[in-house]
Amino acid sequence: MAAALHGARVVSIDDLRRLARARLPRVVFDYLDGGAGGERTLRENVRVFDDVTFLPRGGVSHAQVDLSCTVVGQRFAVPFLLAPIGSSRLMWPCAEVHAARAAGDAGTGYILSTLSGCTLESVRAATRGPAWYQLYLVGGRSVAEAAITRAQAAGYGALVVTVDTPVAGHRERDVRNGIPALLSRRPLTMLPHLWSLLARPRWLRDVLLDGGLMQFPNVVLPDGPMPYASVGEALAASTVTWEDLRWIRACWQGPVLVKGILTPEDARRAVDAGADGVIVSNHGGRQLDGVSSALRALGPVVAAAGARCEVLMDGGIRRGSDIVKAFALGARAVLVGRAYAYGMSAAGHAGVARAIDLLREDVARTLRLLGVGRVEDVARSYVSVPQDWP
Ligand code: LAC
Repeated sequence: MAAALHGARVVSIDDLRRLARARLPRVVFDYLDGGAGGERTLRENVRVFDDVTFLPRGGVSHAQVDLSCTVVGQRFAVPFLLAPIGSSRLMWPCAEVHAARAAGDAGTGYILSTLSGCTLESVRAATRGPAWYQLYLVGGRSVAEAAITRAQAAGYGALVVTVDTPVAGHRERDVRNGIPALLSRRPLTMLPHLWSLLARPRWLRDVLLDGGLMQFPNVVLPDGPMPYASVGEALAASTVTWEDLRWIRACWQGPVLVKGILTPEDARRAVDAGADGVIVSNHGGRQLDGVSSALRALGPVVAAAGARCEVLMDGGIRRGSDIVKAFALGARAVLVGRAYAYGMSAAGHAGVARAIDLLREDVARTLRLLGVGRVEDVARSYVSVPQDWP
């Protein structure tokens, strides 16, 4: 499989997306690929990178470029980490373990979603690199406290708290593809949608050999691990308020990053609640449709809070050049989500490794073409942005 991911077949993340689409049933592919409402924000996250153009310095040669970055005192060999992705285990058997291992091999971090199918201990053990834990309050504070204690004991290096999910966004593709029906556990209701699973026999075999429909082993309710539920149900039970954030801050010994910040006001609030960093993010266009792209929201947050905390971003990154643009606008690092999940869905560990290689090579090439020796030296003066941007 790994050989098939090289050469002319896979030269961009979009090629991995094509392979993911061919392997996954539509219901799983669309869960990964889709967004909320009319998917305006989903599209804009990607499109907005066209608005930012480079201002390279010619006549400069850097034989070696330094791609490493430091976030909350931790060093990463590349300027991106792998974002938390819920339900990964439906995309590839034990997906989280494979993704974490690929991240560690590349010297970067993996962020494990609360809504994962592998135990947080097995994921931590799989990677030599840093691992962070993404927290939702599914099941309330006592359930979260147990996960926090486990994550601390297992050696997770930071907690990422998502604050943009008071309810799940309306993911129209998921409804159309029958996710509520498939999860109803009522055979007659499920029946019309089962054909789409049978149409992908290789995927179906892999899921069955992996134990069938995953559970959430890191969300341990009084009667055991939470059974698989629709994201809507899980997120509705997951809301994090600023008060919760203060409580989480007190429970966790280590850095806390708040994910889902789009405005300077919320960035200040996060810092006031004890955050060490914020992640400018619209949840990959999966929550409130119609908010600004993450890239456009980045600058004002950096201006307002960059001196008091570290500012990262995610959303829409498909190329190394996108990562360099985010650095130019003040990001300390970025998270990539779908970009690696397409690879993971196409080919497991080899697919994640290929996605990381593609991004890494493109960051290095972009830096050399720009005439900058270190990604951390990419400044605002290396890009031009539209005049109406704040
Ligand atoms: C999602 C949740 C799991 O976006 O974060 O699907």
